[in-house]
Amino acid sequence: MTQPTFDPEAYKATTRAQWDEAAEAWQRWGPTLERWLGPATEAMLDAAGVGPGARVLDVAAGAGWQTLAAARRVGPNGHVLATDISAEILARAERGAHDAGLSWVSVRTLDGEALDVEPAAYDAVISRVGFIYFPDQAAAFASMRRALRPGGRLAGVVYSTPEANPFFAVPAAIIRRRAALPAPLPGQPGPFSLGAPGVAEQVFLRAGFVDVTVQTIAAPLRMASAAECLRFEQESFGALHAMLAGVDDAEREAAWAEIGERLADYDGPEGFVGPGELLVVAGQRPPPTG
Ligand SMILES: C[S@@+](CC[C@H](N)C(=O)[O-])C[C@H]1O[C@@H](n2cnc3c(N)ncnc32)[C@H](O)[C@@H]1O
Repeated sequence: MTQPTFDPEAYKATTRAQWDEAAEAWQRWGPTLERWLGPATEAMLDAAGVGPGARVLDVAAGAGWQTLAAARRVGPNGHVLATDISAEILARAERGAHDAGLSWVSVRTLDGEALDVEPAAYDAVISRVGFIYFPDQAAAFASMRRALRPGGRLAGVVYSTPEANPFFAVPAAIIRRRAALPAPLPGQPGPFSLGAPGVAEQVFLRAGFVDVTVQTIAAPLRMASAAECLRFEQESFGALHAMLAGVDDAEREAAWAEIGERLADYDGPEGFVGPGELLVVAGQRPPPTG
C-alpha cells in the first residue's frame, strides 16, 4: 500500500469549509461547550495572565465563547482581537461580543500560521482547542510568539490522550476503521496530536517559549443522554464528517449507529457523562534582558 501524502493546503481548505459548515451548530451548542470547557478556559486565561487592561489575541477563536470570557476580564481599558480561518464562524464571535456590549472586541479572519498583526503588540495570546489544527506547527508558534510583547504569555487548551477522552476517541476510531483511513502521522494535525506526555511542552520550548507549564484538567462531557451526545457530535464535530466523506450513505449510517451504541456505555443515573481530560499549556516569550 502506498503511504497517502498529506497536503497541508488542502487540509486547511477542508478545515475552513468544515468550520464554515459547523459554525451555526458550534454557536448553538455554546452553553454545553461552556459547561464542558469552562474550567479549562478559566485556567487558560489565568495562565496567560489575562487581567484588566490587557491586550489579548485569540487564535482559532471560533464562535468566540472564550473571547467573551477574556473580554470580560480585560474590561474597557483592554482589547481582544478574535481571529479564525473561518469567516463564517468568526461572524458569530463578532455578533456575540456586540450583543454583550463588549465593544473592545474586534475580529479578523486570519490563518493562525500567518498572523498578520502588529508585532509585539499583545500581552497575551490564547487558543482554545485550536493548536491541534496547524499543519505547520513551527510557523504557527513563531507567528503567535511574534505577536506577543517580550514577557507576554501564550496559553492554550488541547485534548490529552484518546484513552482519557473516549467520547471523541471512540467515534473517531470507529469512523477510521469503517472508512479504512490511516492514523495521522506524528506531527500532523489531529485531535490528540499534542496530548501525549511532553509533546505540547516540547512544541512550546522549540518555539522559544520559556517558563512552560502544563496543567491537566478533568473535563467530563455531561449531556442529557448518549443520544444527545451523538447529536452534538454529528452537528458540531466537522472532523468526523470529513473522515466519513469517502464512504457511501449506508456505511455512514452504520457508523453513526455503532457510535451511538458505544456512547450509550456512558449513560447512567445522571444522564450521559463522557470522561474527558484537557491540558492547559502555557509559556512566556522571553522577557527583555538587562
Ligand atoms: C474546535 S473549534 C474551537 C473554537 C473556539 N476556540 C472554542 O473553543 O469554542 C476550532 C477552530 O479552529 C479554527 N481553525 C482551524 N484551523 C485554523 C487555522 N489554520 N487558523 C486559524 N483558525 C483555525 C476553526 O475554524 C475553528 O473555529
